[in-house]
Amino acid sequence: MALQRGQRILRFPDGFLWGTASSSFQCEGGNTNSQWHRWEESGHILTGETSGDACNWWQEAERDFALAEQMENNALRLSIEWSRVEPAEGSWESAAIDRYRAMLTDLRRRHIKPLVTLHHFTDPLWFADRGGFAKVENIRYFVRYVSYVVEQLQDLCDFWITINEPNIYAVLGYLLGSYPPGEHDLLRAMRVLRNLMQAHVEAFYAISRLQPQSQIGYCLHYRLFDPASPLLPLDRAAASLQDTFFNWATMQAGEIGTFPFPLNLLFAPVKHAAGARDFHGVNYYTRDMVRFDAARPAEMFGRRFALPGAPRNDPGLADNFGEIYPPGLYRVLKSVYQRTRGNKPLYITENGFSDTLDDRRPSAILEHLAMVHRAIREGIPVRGYLHWTLVDNFEWLEGWNVRFGLIELDQYTQKRTPRISASMFGEICRANAITETIVTRYAPEAMESIFGVAQQESSRLSV
Ligand code: FCB
Repeated sequence: MALQRGQRILRFPDGFLWGTASSSFQCEGGNTNSQWHRWEESGHILTGETSGDACNWWQEAERDFALAEQMENNALRLSIEWSRVEPAEGSWESAAIDRYRAMLTDLRRRHIKPLVTLHHFTDPLWFADRGGFAKVENIRYFVRYVSYVVEQLQDLCDFWITINEPNIYAVLGYLLGSYPPGEHDLLRAMRVLRNLMQAHVEAFYAISRLQPQSQIGYCLHYRLFDPASPLLPLDRAAASLQDTFFNWATMQAGEIGTFPFPLNLLFAPVKHAAGARDFHGVNYYTRDMVRFDAARPAEMFGRRFALPGAPRNDPGLADNFGEIYPPGLYRVLKSVYQRTRGNKPLYITENGFSDTLDDRRPSAILEHLAMVHRAIREGIPVRGYLHWTLVDNFEWLEGWNVRFGLIELDQYTQKRTPRISASMFGEICRANAITETIVTRYAPEAMESIFGVAQQESSRLSV
């Protein structure tokens, strides 16, 4: 790309990973052997839909990998479906491994580094029926599956994400009841969270033994909780409780093995946690404002809502992704860095927007990336950005009702139509930078917020 003399530019470090993130259940189609299939079959998706063929990746993921290649992405995050690899306890399906080998080989041929998640919300039915992660003795099944997959695929992948968002899996499945198994039990949610973190640690050591040079971590969903009225102590307390419980209790358990007080009185520590990761995976989408509400003890006495009048994601049926709040990504990166004393590099393993018309996504991507750039300028070692997601896929609560893709999908015909955001993302990846030219072309209204952030330090390019 020709750069005009003197134009402002936010350049990312050499080797920065650019790509998209996805998950097996949401993309592959034909996944009928997991607890999520039973959940969708029993009418729990708000639209009443089931994932069906999803994006048909089980047949032809390669078609979308070609689109990622056109965007000059150098990384792609996908997940392995445990319920395909081990459809019954202790029985391994080599055809499933063959299919994953073909996908990973195709990515590598396109110079796209695969980042592989080993657990992204779905459990095989047999595992769920034995009590899943609510039972500590079941962790060994997960570790055995992880070892099997790594033995089979380590020649094609050296970057493993053990578990996606333990906090979402535990809180939505066991406390808020909107994910399977649909429970409302704070103590069980905490037990599941503790067991997931223990499962991560054991998987970490299993993978390290098999493939010592690989990078291994997990990713958490970080959501900001700000007091609705900062001057009201009760709002501040409710926001801070939600923040501690949802974001930092999990991170602390992953870092040092113990939950913060008073949770540490109720739950066993995570054994051998210290040092059990090579990176921090950060998934960030939105923030909530929190108003004290005595009627909501299970939600830490807080009622959550999106800041009125702020830019928003499409509400969809669940209205789960409210405000589009770019500074939140910077705040999260900085908190993770500070709370972990900068011990490991960070990857943004998910960040995205539900925006069917694609009229907010271009500026949202640019403004979030400007925040990533700010974090990097301040010395926070962020090594990659994976956008959620490549192609519209099947959302957990809302089916096809919300659209996160850079590429639009007609799920009935499987026709792909790249959105404007896809062209823009391609230009950013190609340049390894945000340039004034890109901003002018795709989101001129965001020019000042993007380069304003960098004003003092922005490097002026002279060519
Ligand atoms: C995250 C999930 C991911 C996707 C996005 C929108 O919490 O990890 O699978 O559903 O939200």
